[in-house]
Amino acid sequence: MLDQKSLSALREAVKKLDDGFAALPAFESKAPSSERLAEVLNATAGRLQDNYPYFHPLYAGQMLKPPHPVARLAYALAMWINPNNHALDGGRATSAMEKEAVAEIAGMFGWKNFLGHLCGGGTMANLEALWVAGQLRPAKKILASAQAHYTHGRISGVLQLPFESVACDALGRMDLNALANRLERGDVGTVVVTMGTTATGSVDPMPEILTMRAKHGFRIHADAAYGGYFVLARNLEKHTSQAFAQIGEADSIVIDPHKHGLQPYGCGCVLFRDPGVGRLYKHDSPYTYFSSSELHLGEISLECSRPGAAAAALWATQKLLPLRKGGEFACGLELGRKAALALFEKLQADERFVTAFAPELDIVVFVPRAGSAGEASALSRKIFEAAAKRDLHMAVAELPIVFWENNLGTMKRDRETLTCLRSVLMKPEQFDWLPRIWELLSASAKDVLRARN
Ligand SMILES: Cc1ncc(COP(=O)(O)O)c(C=O)c1O
Repeated sequence: MLDQKSLSALREAVKKLDDGFAALPAFESKAPSSERLAEVLNATAGRLQDNYPYFHPLYAGQMLKPPHPVARLAYALAMWINPNNHALDGGRATSAMEKEAVAEIAGMFGWKNFLGHLCGGGTMANLEALWVAGQLRPAKKILASAQAHYTHGRISGVLQLPFESVACDALGRMDLNALANRLERGDVGTVVVTMGTTATGSVDPMPEILTMRAKHGFRIHADAAYGGYFVLARNLEKHTSQAFAQIGEADSIVIDPHKHGLQPYGCGCVLFRDPGVGRLYKHDSPYTYFSSSELHLGEISLECSRPGAAAAALWATQKLLPLRKGGEFACGLELGRKAALALFEKLQADERFVTAFAPELDIVVFVPRAGSAGEASALSRKIFEAAAKRDLHMAVAELPIVFWENNLGTMKRDRETLTCLRSVLMKPEQFDWLPRIWELLSASAKDVLRARN
């Protein structure tokens, strides 16, 4: 089930890496005995078996998928060196690889002259973007939608910047009237525009928010941690593709290679349109930056030590799968979206289920039809459990009932939220697996709904 064929390429690459250091005097490394090593490694494998099968198409729950084999191997290969991309002193080759790979990501948004780097993930990347925003608009409000990731409220707390949430519309996007009203009251420094919310993949209306920026002069930070790569997809609806077409007009962008970019965890990316914000990072270090007068990534990053291996993995992945519209990588995203649309259609056509709005990216949310919102919520949890017993792994989310408003019919609205089933179809293979996913979901719902009657 797990890829093992690619391991032989790693042996060859380690040999090639070793050749690069052949001129050094030989030394005996303190490696443990191979028996003991194997024993502990097998024990580790045993412990790791206690996981949901994130790599399998039947894992259709949270935003989780395995890295591409080339990312896994390049990361492992770099571990023989363990470079540190804080400074060129610690990660010469991988700092160069990071700059190249990040420039390719910025290129997707049409940026050539920018400032950016990798970091630990979406939280760290957003922290940095809001830290810069807070310095440029001191003490002004940060706004993000009610469906934006909770990290923005927490980060604003850490940065001691005032934060306010803006209501969402029935499609899970920032409500433009609510935003306009809030802007009229003044004092807004930055609007976080979420390009793919965590719960439903909804994309905030970037073009209209850009128009409001022209009037009010706030900064726009695009949180594209989840959705950013969809800028390459050709099968988006009009609203979504228009929003992505203008993402390059934001002041800063966050995108997570460790979500849709096929990377191991520990790989986020923050980008600034104006490279001049680099001055805000200015600091002296008595210990680092000695080996070269060239830019060290630590001079433009809040984190100090960072895995150069993450840069090697990203660089290798983008060499194999360039970030091009119509390329293999982009087609993979399109397939996940096709799978989500196909699941949505099946759910819509089946009277046992109530769908919310159509997926904007590759995330589908739905509930079983029931007499009341409370009952539907309880049944969602039961279907989630019944599906897991059949090895189909979905997720559960608590979302505003207005997302379902058009389809609820006579269902009693006895709660403001619905506990729903949520499926993130991030893996291209899931398109071919959809009949099987549907069969298992349908059978699980049948059991749960029969037991209710
Ligand atoms: C839109 C969005 N922003 C930020 C984050 C936080 O990212 P991370 O979990 O990589 O810290 C997430 C995580 O799901 C997200 O979906």
